Amino acid sequence: MKLQRTHTCGQLQHQDVGKSVILNGWVCHCRDHGDLLFIDLRDRYGVTQVVFHRAQDAGLHTAAKTLRPEFVVAVQGQVNLRPEGTANPALPTGEIEVLAQTLEILNPAAPLPMEVDEHAEVSGETRLRYRHLDLRRPGMQQNLLFRHRVIQTIRRYFDQLQFVDVETPFLTKSTPEGARDFLVPSRLSPGEFFALPQSPQLFKQVLMCAGLDRYYQIVRCFRDEDLRADRQPEFTQLDVEMSFIGEEDIIRIIEGLMVTVMREAAGISIHAPFPRIAYREAVDRYGHDAPDLRFGLELVDVTDLARQSEFKVFQAASASGGVVRGLNARAASEQIPRRQIDALVQFAQEIGAKGLAWMRIEGQTVHSPIAKFFSPDLLVQFQKRMEAGPGDVLFFVAGDLKTASLALRHLRLRLGNDLGLIPKNTYHFSWVVDFPLLEWDDEEKRYAALHHPFTSPKPEHLAILEEKPLQVLARAYDLVLNGVEIGGGSIRIHDQEVQKRLFRLLGITDEDAEIKFGFLLECFRHGAPPHGGIALGLDRILMLLRGLDSIRDVIAFPKTQKGTCLFTRAPSPVAPRQLKELGIQPARAEKPGSISHEK
Ligand code: AMO
Ligand code: AMP
Repeated sequence: MKLQRTHTCGQLQHQDVGKSVILNGWVCHCRDHGDLLFIDLRDRYGVTQVVFHRAQDAGLHTAAKTLRPEFVVAVQGQVNLRPEGTANPALPTGEIEVLAQTLEILNPAAPLPMEVDEHAEVSGETRLRYRHLDLRRPGMQQNLLFRHRVIQTIRRYFDQLQFVDVETPFLTKSTPEGARDFLVPSRLSPGEFFALPQSPQLFKQVLMCAGLDRYYQIVRCFRDEDLRADRQPEFTQLDVEMSFIGEEDIIRIIEGLMVTVMREAAGISIHAPFPRIAYREAVDRYGHDAPDLRFGLELVDVTDLARQSEFKVFQAASASGGVVRGLNARAASEQIPRRQIDALVQFAQEIGAKGLAWMRIEGQTVHSPIAKFFSPDLLVQFQKRMEAGPGDVLFFVAGDLKTASLALRHLRLRLGNDLGLIPKNTYHFSWVVDFPLLEWDDEEKRYAALHHPFTSPKPEHLAILEEKPLQVLARAYDLVLNGVEIGGGSIRIHDQEVQKRLFRLLGITDEDAEIKFGFLLECFRHGAPPHGGIALGLDRILMLLRGLDSIRDVIAFPKTQKGTCLFTRAPSPVAPRQLKELGIQPARAEKPGSISHEK
């Protein structure tokens, strides 16, 4: 390469006019105006217009005609002011152009499978398949640069507060509870497996027992779960743990972090403390433990009134211990015409509700297919409970608490969007607290930890741990931003007796506990400080702050919805020899190399 750059493509401005410069970059647009040929040259820093003038150098002009999008070139030339009326105020380099005097093609580009242009519509699949081209798009580069800035801010913040960054293993032990593990076969111990960590939870607790006092790590976690827009099989946590602290200390440190990150990386001023809402209240008022508090449309319980109606569905729900809950889409009669209601009924059913009952209040009259099941007096009571007035549309779901909450949560979000109730560019942080320690897993017929089995019960509930497990509250807290859970943590158990009691409740015998978690229990026997912490989902935070719909756009090389990497084509078969070394049987003949599912 003869022509090494003197400037970047985002740098040259008015004051550089007259200079001889060299730029290196990618050709992003070519415009042939006959005697004049323009190209936009792009690099990470910006775009500069380069002009080839036939009258100046016919040979060079001819050479430039061979340029195509995404050729990598070096151009030497002179910085000129653009002719009057042709400046582009939208670009930092928009006042100038470079009149080319020498051109070196560093690498031509074959015709491309996708357009790099930001505005071109390209399918998600194509973007992942040709990620090297997708990542050339300025928007994607901005996402990665933003990610970098946020990470730098996080590191500075924790460093100032004397937190230590400690790396924890990726090849570790498979532990029950939580999501499915990714397993790694061990060559040296045939038939045995490592697991990739779902989080460094136990290691960070051990670090506290080791006396590190304040730990943080920006760390990859691995979970073999079904994917969604805000879930990847490998994702990044900001993981934090502290000793000799209580809930308030963690909450204060994390609020300070979010205020700092928002200010320094995003230029947005937010205020702490963040509001707190109890888990029970969140479920009752919003149908969900990560409520979007940017708008109202709160849920209202009408189970007691519904019981008095003649409507079988309502009666059945309340008789079987379920609920009837509703929400009032205020003054939405015009925005939700009759045909729209049918679409909403279908929507609720797709989410799992058996149906969606509705009432439209027009003047003094209630229009509803179920109105006939209500006495006039009961209808009045319903309206009163729902704070309903003329023009309102009311929706109700009857069912078990989980199903009704889920349907109403989604209905609320959909109405919030459809009715334009969700303010743009607001960042609403909140804490959800007072979580139950356990929930009943109906499929497995046993208790399961709502967070994880190392979460401490509230001390005042320790006495009822075995008697009334579902009434025990945990010393846990989740951080929610705009209706997305961006973090969760707790004060931990640091007493081996309490830990064993909890394991027993979860169906883990003392012997099993020693086999699976012996190293942790041992720490608790050797002097464990009270400790607690939290982990934030970094990808989710970045997605929300960049206003994106998927965490894929803030991860350089993400997986598809099916958990594959289209770019490298992983996962892929491996040679039989590799399997043999690992003591794994090759699969059946028709698909050589894939892993056998036989036990
Ligand atoms: P938890 O499992 O709640 O807690 O995870 C913490 C945060 O990580 C994010 N997250 C994810 N992000 C992207 N893709 C995923 N598949 C995914 N799963 C989780 C969420 C979540 O709030 N060890 C505990 C924390 C602790 O107790 O300190 C833990 O991992 O934003
Ligand atoms: P059906 O008797 O099933 O035709 O339902 C009569 C009305 O009640 C319809 O508008 C249904 O959408 C509604 N509905 C049915 N099941 C439920 C339910 N679980 N919750 C609320 N509304 C329901």
